[in-house]
This record gives sequence, structure tokens and C-alpha cells, in this order.
Amino acid sequence: GNDSATTGSGGGSGDNTITMGFSQVGAESGWRTANTKSVQDSAKTAGIELKFSDAQQKQENQIKAIRSYIQQKVDVIAFSPVVESGWDTVLKEAQNAKIPVILTDRAVDSKDTSLYKTFLGSDFVEEGKKAGQWLVEEYKDSTDTVNIVELQGTTGSAPANDRKAGFAEVIGSDPKFKIIASQTGDFTRAKGKEVMEAFLKSNPDIDVLYAHNDDMGLGAIEAIEGAGKVPGKDIKIITVDAVKDGMQALADGKINFIVECSPLLGPQLMDLAKKVVAGEQVPARVVTEETTFTQEQAKEALPTRQY
Ligand code: AHR
Repeated sequence: GNDSATTGSGGGSGDNTITMGFSQVGAESGWRTANTKSVQDSAKTAGIELKFSDAQQKQENQIKAIRSYIQQKVDVIAFSPVVESGWDTVLKEAQNAKIPVILTDRAVDSKDTSLYKTFLGSDFVEEGKKAGQWLVEEYKDSTDTVNIVELQGTTGSAPANDRKAGFAEVIGSDPKFKIIASQTGDFTRAKGKEVMEAFLKSNPDIDVLYAHNDDMGLGAIEAIEGAGKVPGKDIKIITVDAVKDGMQALADGKINFIVECSPLLGPQLMDLAKKVVAGEQVPARVVTEETTFTQEQAKEALPTRQY
């Protein structure tokens, strides 16, 4: 790394330790905590020196962190962009400084794809579709209207945009499915609870909750129980992530279906970083492999769940 003492005459990145600057979204969810741990643990294992910063879900903090990594002349910058748009300027700055950038977990909407080397993460549209497919199957024998409320992730984030779009596409094939309310809960438990309370007050007849992550779903469960209803029965719940607390609620019958989103991106990120720094070709897109869980499957998976 450029900050550690170097031996020999090279200076700069004269030693061969790679320094990575990583700008994390925040600590908004159980998923994020598991993702941070994965990145930190695998940097250690890979012998990569990690400079880590938490942006507290604010784009301006991520831009500051990236600029500081450019100034420190790190070997590679990795980040998980909180929202999709508004990155071109700072990514140009990294490119001009000849520091390769890797996107992890979330995408940017920049037209110029030469601004980053690769994007490692889930297919969020696919996740939204899987949520919708479960619902279509669950109600296949019913002709009644199905009233759905949606707790969206952080406004403008790739997972919120894509999970909404994928879900809407699938349920759109049958007009009995009606999204009667849809609002952001910022991917947090507290916001999930607060927004669900408001949904329950203004909509007496909610059949289904689709929450873009487990944490918002778990907050909403508190709101539903507080309103004297039974989560998983009176209101069916679909979430995304499959972190331990979500899987426990699924096994307990309070959630009905979870679409997995893997936070364990660290090992693949470190591999990609080494290749990119060595000037090797890497695929432009690396998609994480994921599954889905029913209540029965959650009971089986829980004992060995890592996060
Ligand atoms: O970008 C991934 C999403 O961010 C996770 O699904 C959510 O829990 C997290 O906050």
C-alpha cells in the first residue's frame, strides 16, 4: 500500500501490498452489518490493506470518502453506491488519477461504463420477480382482490428501484393484485415500523406486505402485532435478504416467504481487486447466486445460517 512503509526503491506502491479504499453505504440493516464483516474479514485473509468508511446512507459522505481515497493514492477503490445517480464527476476524478473502481452490491446509472472495472452483486430485478412469483402462486386459486402494501428501500437506490420494478412486472399480469400503498422505509427496522403503522391506520383491509428487506419487515411485524393482527396470517409478508432475524421470523410463521440476497461479497471482491490491480481482465458483471426460502426451508437452514 502507499501508506505503509515501503522497502526497495520503488516508493509509491513499491511494496506489493494492495491498499483498498472501501466506502460502505451505512449500517442500516442486518444485511449491511454482515456485508461489512465479510469485506473486512476477507481483506484480512487476502492480505489487502483496507481503508473503510461508513457513509451513513448519505451520498455526499461517499463522495468525500472517494475523494480522500484518491488523495491517499490507494491502489483500488470499491464502493456500494447508496443511490444510482450522480456519480460521474467523482468517478472521472478516480479515472484521471488512474485508480480502478469496483462497484459492489449496488449499481450506478452512469452511461460511461469505462468509469468502473466491474460490478459485483445481486440481480435485484430478479429478486423482485421471485417475490412476485411466490405471490402469484399463493393466490392462484383466488379471484378476490389482493390488497398489497409495499415498504420500499432507500429512495433512489438500485435495490429499491429494481425490487419494485421486478415485483410490479410479475404481479401486473393479473389485475386482482393491487398495490394500495407504497412508501420508503429506508431499509431500517424503525422506519419500517413507523410506515407500517401509518399504512394500517389508513387501510383497514391489507392482505399482503411486500418489504424490500427483512429489517423493514421485522419493524412492520411489530406494527401489525401492535394493531392486534397476526403477521403471517392476517397479513402475509414477503421480504428480501434472509438474514438470521428474518429467517427466524419466517421459521416462526410471522413471515411467509423470503427472497435471498447474499451479503457475503468479500471474498469475490478481494479476488477481483487483485486482478484489477494486476491489470488483468475481469468480467464487467459478476452476479451473486441466490435462492428463496419458505417457512419449512427456513427451519432447515437456520441452524447453519452464517449471518
Ligand atoms: O443493497 C442491498 C440492500 O441494502 C439489502 O437488501 C438491504 O437490507 C440493505 O440495506
